[in-house]
Amino acid sequence: MGHIWLIGMMGSGKTSVGQELANTLGLVFVDADDAVVASSGRSIENLFAEGEAAFRAVEHDVIIEIASIERCVVATGGGAVLDPANVAAMRASGTTVLLDANAQTLKVRLTGSTDRPLLTDGSDIDTVARERADVYRASADLTVETTNRTIDEVVEEVIRCVPM
Ligand code: S3P
Repeated sequence: MGHIWLIGMMGSGKTSVGQELANTLGLVFVDADDAVVASSGRSIENLFAEGEAAFRAVEHDVIIEIASIERCVVATGGGAVLDPANVAAMRASGTTVLLDANAQTLKVRLTGSTDRPLLTDGSDIDTVARERADVYRASADLTVETTNRTIDEVVEEVIRCVPM
């Protein structure tokens, strides 16, 4: 038993699923992006304005810190798995669950999102998803499909599959 780390692309449902999953299991829910903002006192956009590395450095510290607290459900930022040290800390402290969704679904879910610097700087979601596909797969202890599924259905499957 350890943390349940939700990983996956922006728009894959990590926050919505994580909140519901934590409620159902009676665990604390931690959103790593919120923790980045709380610990740095800066917005994600503000950190990215200094360069992606500035954001990733705080994100790394936050992941290491979360790994050391008592069992919880964690929604990670979509790029947290890009640092192998983050993935190692996640796996050493629990189970990594990849929430997957096709690119069309991600696009629909992210329509209107204005607080994700990677999407507002001209990158497109298909490219980011394609570039990261192998890293997500390699970082996941298990994968749950979210396309055309409700939050409750996804939560149910995570509970069925994660070691309790
Ligand atoms: C990012 C995803 C965001 C946030 C930041 C970078 C990424 O989190 O951490 O904008 O690199 O995919 P969500 O996946 O919660 O949107």
